[in-house]
Amino acid sequence: MNVLIIGGGGREHALAWKIRQSSLVDQLYCAPGNPGMRDVIAVPESDLQALADFAEKNAIGLTMVGPEAPLCAGIVDLFRARGLRIVGPDRHAAQLEGSKSFAKDFMRRHGIPTADATTFDNEAGALAYLRRHGAPIVIKADGLAAGKGVIVAMTMAEAEEALRSCFGGAFGQAGNRVLLEECLFGEEASILALCDGKSIIPLASSQDHKRALDGDLGPNTGGMGAYSPAPIVTDELWQEIDRLVLQPFLSGCRRDALNFRGVIYAGLMLTAKGPKVLEFNVRFGDPETQAILMRLDSDLVEALVATADQCLADIRLCWSPKAAVCVVMAARGYPGSYAKGAAISGLGDAEAGGAVVFHAGTAVKDGRMVTAGGRVLGVTALGDDIAAAVANAYDAVAKISWDGAQFRRDIAHRALGK
Ligand code: AMP
Ligand code: GLY
Repeated sequence: MNVLIIGGGGREHALAWKIRQSSLVDQLYCAPGNPGMRDVIAVPESDLQALADFAEKNAIGLTMVGPEAPLCAGIVDLFRARGLRIVGPDRHAAQLEGSKSFAKDFMRRHGIPTADATTFDNEAGALAYLRRHGAPIVIKADGLAAGKGVIVAMTMAEAEEALRSCFGGAFGQAGNRVLLEECLFGEEASILALCDGKSIIPLASSQDHKRALDGDLGPNTGGMGAYSPAPIVTDELWQEIDRLVLQPFLSGCRRDALNFRGVIYAGLMLTAKGPKVLEFNVRFGDPETQAILMRLDSDLVEALVATADQCLADIRLCWSPKAAVCVVMAARGYPGSYAKGAAISGLGDAEAGGAVVFHAGTAVKDGRMVTAGGRVLGVTALGDDIAAAVANAYDAVAKISWDGAQFRRDIAHRALGK
């Protein structure tokens, strides 16, 4: 079977790495891919018609979508209308990520525990509510904002500033509607699952690190590292998450007639009152996927085909008992403005010890690998436990260098000693 992966970041490189291991795959294509992924085609992920044309012409038997934007733009509807097999929710169901108020209504309707929230379409109403409620409070732009549309405000001044910037257009259209949400406290965990509308199969637990600096300080980023499993998710907690989140999600999709045949990602806050959903994403997480897929012993392509064809009930996923850690190496300045074009060295050495270096923002210039994005690489390694995986990942990181490389030195710190 020929397979097409849409997207070009670290998550998609990890998908390509895993999909290539499947005996079911003849030819893999990545659109637009990145220099780590090989077999790239120069079609942007936003050009849905060109992607469908490519899939038709090249007898693609399975298309896997990495990022949320093409899903929210309706790529699944388009591919299915043309008889092409694709993994992901359709445009309507993708609103679970594309609109936070849509997701909140879904959770309320189906009894999925989440933070209390109120939705506002104008600044004056939101300000009045804010003044009654007080801080801490969480301000969320309703639409897609590349992970930047959430502000956890500890003071009224921060909250008012966040509201002004949302309604002032800081997140474009995404901020025309705003949710004011109860601030929850606890540890976080990411739970991803394959869902075909009839069954739901959880993937291994994981946790990412959103803040730029050690100690979970500094600005939010797309993710500076991840680990799997998340030891905080004990067997008992898994049962609770299944009962409170995954099963109600599945029955909610059925009752609302949501056409969801893809990956559901629940970002959870593990509060004193039990797990609560902070957000849904309708796709694999980045960089959680890099850590999770390193531990998957089963054939991913078989599972993805079953997701698209609604026969997930037949699938069993096997996981390595090892732990995996992904350390993101970023360009100096990220998540703010950063330089591009620095030559990267040591990639071969880093992989010699068994680590896998997933590319996220690289380019080839004059025959050399150079930096071309904020998040540049996701250096990922297995180990017998989290501590060993951390050591292996950082050994590999130490072999890679470029002028201006920055990374966190404490990935998985919360999981150590658990
Ligand atoms: P998101 O972009 O929705 O993943 O949110 C980014 C981060 O904001 C989450 O990982 C949490 O750390 C934080 N966050 C989101 N919602 C809440 C909430 N209701 N209470 C506390 N923190 C939150
Ligand atoms: N790592 C967070 C996300 O993929 O949204």
